[in-house]
Amino acid sequence: MKEIKKIAVFTSGGDAPGMNAAIRSVVRTATYHDLHVFGIFQGYHGMIEGDIKRLERKDVGNIIQRGGTILKTARSMDFMTKEGRQKAYESIQAFDIQGLVAIGGNGTYTGAKIFGEEFNIPIIGVPGTIDNDIYGTDYSIGFDTAINTAIEAVDRIRDTADSHNRLFFIEVMGRHSGYIALYTGIGSGAGNIFLPETEGNIDGLISQLKKEGRRKKLFNLVIVAEGNKNGGAMEIAEKVKGSLSNFDLKVTIIGHLQRGGSPSCNDRVLASRLGHSAVTALLNNESGKAVGVKNGQVVYTNFSEAISKENEINRDLIEMAQILAL
Ligand code: F6P
Repeated sequence: MKEIKKIAVFTSGGDAPGMNAAIRSVVRTATYHDLHVFGIFQGYHGMIEGDIKRLERKDVGNIIQRGGTILKTARSMDFMTKEGRQKAYESIQAFDIQGLVAIGGNGTYTGAKIFGEEFNIPIIGVPGTIDNDIYGTDYSIGFDTAINTAIEAVDRIRDTADSHNRLFFIEVMGRHSGYIALYTGIGSGAGNIFLPETEGNIDGLISQLKKEGRRKKLFNLVIVAEGNKNGGAMEIAEKVKGSLSNFDLKVTIIGHLQRGGSPSCNDRVLASRLGHSAVTALLNNESGKAVGVKNGQVVYTNFSEAISKENEINRDLIEMAQILAL
């Protein structure tokens, strides 16, 4: 087995608060073990372009508290082609890079699996996405910060919604996963939550709100995941509008606010732990795996399993949210 002396780290896909803490952890753990570390800028795109620089301990100072990613991120169509990956391989070979840490979501893991197998490069994945939809970890980097950002926004809306007796439809991120919507909905005491994973009963919502209206409760909050099958907050509000003439309806889309900002302490600790464990795995000659934390313990999951399964939403929580909103 070849002793690893040079590794590189990159971030790919949507950015998430805490990615910088993970980069810092990778760099500092690696330098502690006398490895040379490189940063690949703009994810797979930068790998193809050879946008690679050496990172020293000092280069990752003063970043643990910063949102976004100092390495930038991108979504690369070229990396999906064999020619693109060949170019990427040549770029990392030019720096004699013998192992990679890939921070990102499902798309990042898919690229890492193919690339690692094609060129026999050890790669360890680190889950970074606000969506929390990655199998093999209870939480991904950025989720905790995103739900706290969303909750803060919803709390502010609640003040004005309550004052004016308004019904607010608030859209949160989550194209395929309802984690952000479910946690934001429970945490904000929303009257109803629409997820991508559930049908979402528009008629049920209308009769619930009518009943509340008869009780003179004209204020309510409805949290909608952007990927809900009935549409986003705008579409759902439009669908119920005609049936709820005595309600003053408003729509807020929190959007990319949820992706930015200083990471929460939980995300910083999680990112530090995962980055550290990723380097340890490379040093132990592990490859083709993603690191995660389950029930408080660091675990490793093969890429093939991680990308073929989903971090399923807890159905008991959905049921509980419905009971608490009654
Ligand atoms: O980071 C995940 C996510 O925020 C999804 O919830 C959302 O649909 C998507 O990224 C939007 O990403 P972008 O605007 O970068 O395409």
